[in-house]
Amino acid sequence: MHRNKILEDIEVDYLYHLGLDSSMNLKALFGNVKFVCMGGSPDRAYEFVKKIQERSDKTLIIEQFGKTERTSLYKIGNVISMSHGMGMPSILIFLHEITKLLEYAGCIDYIFLRLGTSGGIGIEPGTLVLTTEAVNSNFKAVFDHQVLDKTYSFPTNLDSKLIARIQSCVKTTSRLVLGKTLGTDDFYEGQGRLDGALAPLYTDIEKHDYLQRAFMMGVRNIEMESTAFAAFCVRADIPSVIICVALINRLNGDQITSTKEEMKHYTDNLLDFVAGFVYDQSDCIK
Ligand code: URA
Repeated sequence: MHRNKILEDIEVDYLYHLGLDSSMNLKALFGNVKFVCMGGSPDRAYEFVKKIQERSDKTLIIEQFGKTERTSLYKIGNVISMSHGMGMPSILIFLHEITKLLEYAGCIDYIFLRLGTSGGIGIEPGTLVLTTEAVNSNFKAVFDHQVLDKTYSFPTNLDSKLIARIQSCVKTTSRLVLGKTLGTDDFYEGQGRLDGALAPLYTDIEKHDYLQRAFMMGVRNIEMESTAFAAFCVRADIPSVIICVALINRLNGDQITSTKEEMKHYTDNLLDFVAGFVYDQSDCIK
């Protein structure tokens, strides 16, 4: 971990977006954490802890911490489940603050998992994608981070041992595919949609050509956080994985037309799979 030594001189560190600070007894509250599971939406963060609780036959309790304007942060056993909002700026804020929180709490050997929704490429809606590499719009495994007036290219390698551990949990092969995940800065133009508010900067043929090239490069889904998430975890030396469910096959269109029930089925698929993995891996959760 590239620890920030400046933090040692700050009397109380206010983790502003979490609504927690370092003067609290974070060791008592969070000292046992081994898994941090994060996804875009607050509802999903809660559904996830409910699924872990169901697996424990309701013996584990769910606690909620911090303020709720920007995130919902739950804890059950040694698992934190929290929302990170949409896009790289938002997830980066929460990655900084949750990592500092775990450091103040004295946590060791923890892992980060991102549970996301995504647009699939060449896969059916409902398919889970376990990310092998998070790539940028040029299909490079880097996150280009603008810091002051410099651009840094940070690597985005994910933890191959963790990927193999998760893969070994798959009971049916059709439910999960491995592939690269394209991290973009936008849902519309950034992902080659033609249904944004502004006249598109590309034709339908150019869009399809791009998506086909992405598929040929091994990309199986597109979302808006993967490269920033992976690069942060590499820099912080935190083993991490990304598992997303595809809500649409982008080779067939741009609009997400699934019903509420279908959507719930897809996200349940994702949450059940990851809750099963986390619950099985975690001895001290039980
Ligand atoms: N999230 C995205 O970023 N893109 C999609 O197409 C679906 C969900």
